[in-house]
Amino acid sequence: MLRIAVQSKGRLYDETMLLLEEAGIKLNRGKRILLLSAKGFPVELLFLRDDDIPQSVANGIADAGIVGENEYVEKGQEARLVKRLGFSRCRLSLAIPKDEEYNGIQWFEGKKIATSYPVIVRDYLQKNGVNAELHIISGSVEIAPGIGLADAIFDIVSSGSTLVSNRLKEVEVVLPCEALLIANNHLTEEKQAILDELLFRFESVLRAEGKKYVLLNAPKDKLADIIEVLPGMKSPTVTPLADRDWVSVQSVISESHFWEVIGKLKALGAEGILVLPIEKMIV
Ligand code: PRP
Ligand code: ZN
Repeated sequence: MLRIAVQSKGRLYDETMLLLEEAGIKLNRGKRILLLSAKGFPVELLFLRDDDIPQSVANGIADAGIVGENEYVEKGQEARLVKRLGFSRCRLSLAIPKDEEYNGIQWFEGKKIATSYPVIVRDYLQKNGVNAELHIISGSVEIAPGIGLADAIFDIVSSGSTLVSNRLKEVEVVLPCEALLIANNHLTEEKQAILDELLFRFESVLRAEGKKYVLLNAPKDKLADIIEVLPGMKSPTVTPLADRDWVSVQSVISESHFWEVIGKLKALGAEGILVLPIEKMIV
């Protein structure tokens, strides 16, 4: 049995649960239950505050965890990073009152900064040769300047709307963050094998993200040009059709170039273009 610590609520919760579900880990989630086991897979989930996940994994209360990079860097150096999961992207930034003139990191010299991430910001200030005072608080950091508790803040920025509504502006991005899969440094062989299987499943799900499966009919004389437009995983699958002048082509394309690729395919004479979602990609 592998015990995975996950956030009980907050910015990572929804996407963590979605990733687990797509990886085939299904549970009956009741209210106020801290520990739940999965159906048909030797994993149990321990629901914690994000701040507590790195230590729980480091000290073996949990074997693995899904946690924000912000909390991992602040508190989790004793656990190992297994995989960057790419979701819940945000950044840890320094922000100051909107009307302040900012002309570089020296602005912070002698200032008071409110934060829940003292380790990360102290390290950053030190590297930049800035002496500032830290005011460590665990929540509602963004209101500190407005009520005279601090001159500036160091906190998570995602959409930036919290900053705007508190009349603050982001002036230094210190650490880009995303969700991470972390693990204890001393897993038994049995637990490591479960973690490996989990990692394989996560990678199959993440790889398929933003990818589409495309099927189309192509005139044979345009096949080379069409293949050029469709890079695919290795090379596209080409099958003959009853009409000898046409072939069927199947490939994978990424969502980011989707409309551009479709436009080129149409211009090259492709017909009957079908686009399908991809759930998982095993390589
Ligand atoms: C963070 C941060 C801000 C907000 C920023 O809190 O403290 O309040 O998110 O996001 P925005 O740029 O999209 O407005 P979070 O929701 O992570 O809660 P926590 O600090 O209590 O963990
Ligand atoms: Zn938190």
